[in-house]
Amino acid sequence: MSGTTLTVKVDKINQEAEDIRSFELVDPERRLLPMFTAGSHIDVELPNGLMRQYSISNDPRDVDRYVIAVLREIEGRGGSASMHDDVKQGDTLTITAPRNNFPIHENATHHILLAGGIGVTPLLAMARDLSGRGLSYELHYCTRSPEKTAFKEAIASDDLKASVTVHHDGGNPADGLDIAGLLKEVRQGANVYYCGPTGFMHACEQATEHWPTGTVHREFFNVDPDVEFGDDNAFKIIIASTGQELDVPADKSIVDVLRANGIEVETMCEEGICGTCATVLLEGDPDHRDFVLDDEEKARGEFIMVCCSRAKSPTLKLDL
Ligand code: FES
Repeated sequence: MSGTTLTVKVDKINQEAEDIRSFELVDPERRLLPMFTAGSHIDVELPNGLMRQYSISNDPRDVDRYVIAVLREIEGRGGSASMHDDVKQGDTLTITAPRNNFPIHENATHHILLAGGIGVTPLLAMARDLSGRGLSYELHYCTRSPEKTAFKEAIASDDLKASVTVHHDGGNPADGLDIAGLLKEVRQGANVYYCGPTGFMHACEQATEHWPTGTVHREFFNVDPDVEFGDDNAFKIIIASTGQELDVPADKSIVDVLRANGIEVETMCEEGICGTCATVLLEGDPDHRDFVLDDEEKARGEFIMVCCSRAKSPTLKLDL
């Protein structure tokens, strides 16, 4: 694990719903934890050695704890199973300081939050934050059934209940929230945020296609398997600080080439989900292949995720 790390104690574990547990993480000496903003995540080193990212669900004003929630994924790669099976109350875990790729956009006059299943975690933090600041929002929380619905107590609380609607679809999305209908009319001043499983992400993406650039924000927690990228071509990178030119062959990533040449860049997921490897791009036309930057950020071309993205131009100049 690279970057700033913290040791935290697992103070409480709650069975929030079928297959979903929340973990309340505190400083072992009960000191305040580093501040975070709604939408932030932490990287957690699991007992089985894997690293996983989890969004913080509690109110950013409560910096005495980070509350994360983990869905046990039956067909996962062992990360969620390790959190469920190996982590006990009183254990210590190593985590990174919070990072935020999914912030609230403060210029919006209304915030439409759309959560699918466990994707509620960052959106719940946003709802709590917006509610605490008296700002206008609505949270639509889509789950299969009451048994699969986490944080029931929180969403029924006096602070949130007036702005939260829970939609159960019984396993058939057609019986759940009409996402296209909800977002059919572009609401002046509103921003949309969504997070959930792949099908839900696709439905939200389609429903917001006509929304103005910069008003729609999303966070993926998995690589979208349906996104297809072009061929992997070879290109060159230029290291701005030294002028060094390095070839990136078609079968290597930028990070591979940097490492092979002794240039360290911090990475985590290495599949374009976490944003850890974001690097300032000084020149060139990037072929963005990440799920972190939104369309507007991709169009601006100020950053590139060097673990997965490539080049459309013959060279890219990186601020390294
Ligand atoms: S390391 Fe996660 S996006 Fe590059």
